[in-house]
Amino acid sequence: MLKKTETTSVRKIRLSYSRNKKAFTGEADMEQRKEPYIQHEEPGLKKYCACGLSKNKPYCDGSHHGTGMHSYKVEIEEAKTVAICGCGQSKSKPFCDGSHRTL
Ligand code: FES
Repeated sequence: MLKKTETTSVRKIRLSYSRNKKAFTGEADMEQRKEPYIQHEEPGLKKYCACGLSKNKPYCDGSHHGTGMHSYKVEIEEAKTVAICGCGQSKSKPFCDGSHRTL
């Protein structure tokens, strides 16, 4: 069970999907941060979580399989620091656009 901290809140998301030929409908707790993930990235293909279910955020861990969602795939061309949205409100996902400041 996730716990609310100063920089996160927990919200319920409804899920309805099938996995291994079994239908699943229910709710899951999803961490909603109030700040971005600041990551130093080396060049290469990065897969960032889009569904909110990954246990390795901001990266995809495959938890989205069966939900109909897909990870954000980003090619990082040179080493740099990036801000990845943690609140889910950015209009330029997976990157932070400052929308978390309105939460
Ligand atoms: S964390 Fe900054 S817009 Fe979501």
